[in-house]
Amino acid sequence: MQPVQAPFPATRLRRARQSAAIRALVRETTLAPSDFIWPVFLRDGTGVEEEIPSMPGVMRRSVDRVVESAREALGLGIPAICLFPYTDPAKKTQDCAEAWNPDNLSNTATRAIKDAVPEMAVMTDVALDPYNIDGHDGFVEDGEIVNDRTVEALVKQALSQAAAGADIIGPSDMMDGRIGALRAALEAEGRQKVMLLSYAAKYASAFYGPFRDAVGASGALKGDKTTYQMDPANSDEALRLVARDLSEGADMVMIKPGMPYLDICRRVKDAFGAPTFAYQVSGEYAMLAGAAQNGWVDGDRVMLESLMAFKRAGCDGVLTYFAPAAARLLNG
Ligand code: PBG
Repeated sequence: MQPVQAPFPATRLRRARQSAAIRALVRETTLAPSDFIWPVFLRDGTGVEEEIPSMPGVMRRSVDRVVESAREALGLGIPAICLFPYTDPAKKTQDCAEAWNPDNLSNTATRAIKDAVPEMAVMTDVALDPYNIDGHDGFVEDGEIVNDRTVEALVKQALSQAAAGADIIGPSDMMDGRIGALRAALEAEGRQKVMLLSYAAKYASAFYGPFRDAVGASGALKGDKTTYQMDPANSDEALRLVARDLSEGADMVMIKPGMPYLDICRRVKDAFGAPTFAYQVSGEYAMLAGAAQNGWVDGDRVMLESLMAFKRAGCDGVLTYFAPAAARLLNG
């Protein structure tokens, strides 16, 4: 608790804001490139970089380009990169088999990055939506997203990612029991070092719109994700999800989206003290980048301010499309 302060003029709180030097001395929170996990979008081909219209400045990259990007990011001090494949509609099926194809785009990129830039931590996404003809993170049977059969498929997907060399596996599907199933399967295969960063508190959010364009899932999605992603009205439920996922073997947890859910970040960090991350999602990026592009806000400043907010709210780090731009600024 705060000690009682002597009244004015003994206490002049402006004294601590008088110069850059004093402000630096009393700063409570720091932001560094090592706080970032950089999500990147993959596509087929070579030498390809194409901008995503709803995410100005964000590219889909072919594997050769993503390897170069990983090398650059490591040079900037960014410790981890997270891969999201754009999947050709022709490869989307009812059984989602492309998800555990050892040579799918995500696995090919993981191997290429770990070969060329082994110091970069590679995170991969576990969920069926890029490969699902129905666009959902799980299998659809009679109009319902089925849990347990989906978890079996997620296990196959995660094992193929681990075999390709993924350091961190990020289940973003919100099925029940998947962390326990993934941890057991990884142990059984002798992959004790693979980390699980659970998308533990993932909300059914409208802020994912540009991402679904980026991975080619918007057209495919039938209905919404409200029967498995969280209701934005809930907060206690987030704590129950985090507790559950940590008890099942998650090493780190995530809150998603980020900026509208900073209260959840704080509660999770205070309650568990576990490594906690927020995902500043595509719609958040689009709002900031779009406004900056129009000259309505100062892009660099809103970027750094928004990222600092995650640290202040208790997060250890943040998944952000701004990672390289922010790292460049922070490195001076
Ligand atoms: C899907 C997934 C989504 C995101 C990451 N993984 C979208 C969704 O749940 O529909 C969103 C990321 C973003 O918006 O930046 N498994």
